[in-house]
Amino acid sequence: MIRYQDLGLSNTREMFKKAMDGGYAVPAYNFNNLEQLQAIITGCLESRSPVILQISKGARAYANQTLLRYLAEGAMKIVGESEHPIPVALHLDHGDSYELCVSCIETGFSSVMIDGSGFPYEENVALTRKVVEYAHKHDVTVEGELGVLAGIEDEVSHAASHYTDPEDVQHFVEETGVDSLAISIGTSHGAYKFKVKPGEAPPPLRFDILEEVERRIPGFPIVLHGASSVLPVYVDMINQYGGKLEGAVGVSEDQLRRAAKSAVCKINIDSDGRLVVTAVIRKTFAENPKEFDPRKYLGPARDELKNLIIRKNRDVLGSADRA
Ligand code: G3H
Ligand code: 13P
Ligand code: ZN
Repeated sequence: MIRYQDLGLSNTREMFKKAMDGGYAVPAYNFNNLEQLQAIITGCLESRSPVILQISKGARAYANQTLLRYLAEGAMKIVGESEHPIPVALHLDHGDSYELCVSCIETGFSSVMIDGSGFPYEENVALTRKVVEYAHKHDVTVEGELGVLAGIEDEVSHAASHYTDPEDVQHFVEETGVDSLAISIGTSHGAYKFKVKPGEAPPPLRFDILEEVERRIPGFPIVLHGASSVLPVYVDMINQYGGKLEGAVGVSEDQLRRAAKSAVCKINIDSDGRLVVTAVIRKTFAENPKEFDPRKYLGPARDELKNLIIRKNRDVLGSADRA
């Protein structure tokens, strides 16, 4: 058993309390490799933001769970030795079984998500409660989910969304003992979140549902998945240099800023990082066709990702200077 406390990690309890009181959201960035982790850690240290490092089941399979753990441990050494350390949680994103959650907790994760949102309600409650019972014995925090987000990624795939029913939230939170709750208010995973005609604005998020949830479970930390903004500057760069991402649309930063001021304490961002990295690598290859040193294209991609993270923490989530 590796205790996350021994690695210098934090669970999300205190982070969310401060975010709720301070009217901001803690960023949760996914990583699969060294360069993404470097960008997240240096970006959050420079902007003095708390951060949740997210690892999906797919990331674990891709990068090797042992290596990922040591990468995170290495990142914590850098954080611990920095002039101004920041709180860091290591979180399982979209855990799909009790066994996976247990395995992560035993290998140093400080927080896990059990995503039972695809199951019938009572099954979701039972599975989530079982994970909470184990996790809380080790002071690991648990995120549950109610409502379904649309979108297709490696390990997360739903053809259609359905919004969270606010009538369920109080019962779910009480019955399961979860520490935070992901809800569905119109976001979705991936780079194609809304079908809009060129020049048209995407539809607003369902803040009415969020407000009703807040009314029923006041002060309870809410999580927003599928919160990438799919910034046109990077989509255009990808398309300019040979990519084909037509019609990619995300959640506007204004909507996220508004959400971050509410009970939304955690905002999940993965696709925006993927787009930045892809855009910079495509541009670098197009401009330097003779380049074959990975450091020469992964390095600039990493630097641009760091800049994006600093800007998001400062201007969108409001988490900069809160650590
Ligand atoms: O919500 C899902 C995350 O973006 C992780 O995606 O399963 O492809 O690693 P992944
Ligand atoms: P995006 O695809 O919008 O980045 O969402 C990421 C996410 O929700 C990870 O759990
Ligand atoms: Zn998600």
